[in-house]
Amino acid sequence: MTTATAENPGLHAIETASRDEITNLQIERLRWSLSHAYNNVAQYRAKFDAAGVHPEDLKELADLARFPFTTKQDLRDTYPFGMFAVPRQKVVRIHASSGTTGKPTVVGYTQQDIDNWADLVARSIRASGGRPGDVVHVSYGYGLFTGGLGAHYGAERLGCTVVPFGGGQTEKQVQLLLDFKPDIIMVTPSYMLAIADEFDRQGIDPADCSLRIGIHGAEPWTNEMRLEIERRFHIDAVDIYGLSEVMGPGVANECVETKDGPVIWEDHFLPEIIDPVTGEVLPDGEQGELVFTSLTKEALPVIRYRTRDLTRLLPPTSRSMRRMDKITGRSDDMLIIRGVNVFPSQIEELILKTTTLSPHYVLEIARHGHLDELEVLVEPKPDFAAASEASQTATARELQHHIKSYIGVSTKIRIVPIGTIERSIGKAKRVIDRRPK
Ligand code: DLL
Repeated sequence: MTTATAENPGLHAIETASRDEITNLQIERLRWSLSHAYNNVAQYRAKFDAAGVHPEDLKELADLARFPFTTKQDLRDTYPFGMFAVPRQKVVRIHASSGTTGKPTVVGYTQQDIDNWADLVARSIRASGGRPGDVVHVSYGYGLFTGGLGAHYGAERLGCTVVPFGGGQTEKQVQLLLDFKPDIIMVTPSYMLAIADEFDRQGIDPADCSLRIGIHGAEPWTNEMRLEIERRFHIDAVDIYGLSEVMGPGVANECVETKDGPVIWEDHFLPEIIDPVTGEVLPDGEQGELVFTSLTKEALPVIRYRTRDLTRLLPPTSRSMRRMDKITGRSDDMLIIRGVNVFPSQIEELILKTTTLSPHYVLEIARHGHLDELEVLVEPKPDFAAASEASQTATARELQHHIKSYIGVSTKIRIVPIGTIERSIGKAKRVIDRRPK
């Protein structure tokens, strides 16, 4: 249902509903979602039973705190489709994101889920200032990553013309941005700045291109970065947030008129902030880990899913729903390198599979220009230390290739002399992050 008021044509009625209306809808949908998960997913049934809770125990929203959390580990334990709540034949789409080791985290969607997702991304683009008839250039990656297809379906749903470019080929991105004259670009903020650099390299001022709006997310970014993007392109740059397990892009999106943090689409996702150590629910305004419960998802309902993203909930401003502050970090060790999620444990697994390399390694991340670079420093096993330079280079290339093909991130590999990597007493320091804060 949409309400076309004179001030705000195309807004969904729930976006401006009263808090009571939102709460009532959330309770009704939450009851459904808890029962759906309990009745159809063995993992949820076992966890609810072990915690001594039943979907019928939910009388008000606060009762949700009695239900157990869901984590990436639950998805890993049931890999690939064990958390699906519908028969596989009803799943029309699969996406995947990084798992902590070899196996990816798999998510699925029914036709209804895809429809809801398209509606919410359309709502997000609209909140960003997009309108039917706009041309939308999508530079998020297509494929298993939710960015490309998620943006694509939403832009089509809003009635836009979509250019499904995907990532990479920066020179050609610039060419089509000039030739097709899009109004909107959807891309990670770091790649947006790399595109700006490519404009400069070609001697063209990015501010002269047709773009009006940039919709940026999939990685943390600061307000300083927003200002730089806006200054260079003369556009409005807004924040889009999401994660595969909860849906993909469009779980929350900033409104262009306020640019004060993504509005969480609370009619579909119920947010909580918890203390990442104790699991205790924290009041709005306090910093902690963001947790989501899906209210309408059919194929993969998520109950109290721990995102590991650190932020806080903020009161409504331009819509009736609460906002989230910018993500300030994570409560686990996941890195995001050029929009690709990377767990150090995934890289470790590939190092250990390389028979000539030792388990002494460190990951160094630096920022060159606007893009992150990941370097893996690793020591050889003693009997490989004296191997020729050519065979060490071949080993480094092989590891680089495996990391690129399994994890999707480009790295530099440096095989360093034995003893170079600091031996730690206790917890090893595996990551040295040299990126400016
Ligand atoms: O990154 C979905 C997405 C695609 C969002 C395109 C926005 C635009 P995943 O690959 O599962 O899904 O990664 C999810 O990325 O838990 C955050 O740590 C991070 N992230 C996503 N959006 C933002 C954002 C997509 N706006 C993980 N700000 C999340 C900061 C973000 N971090």
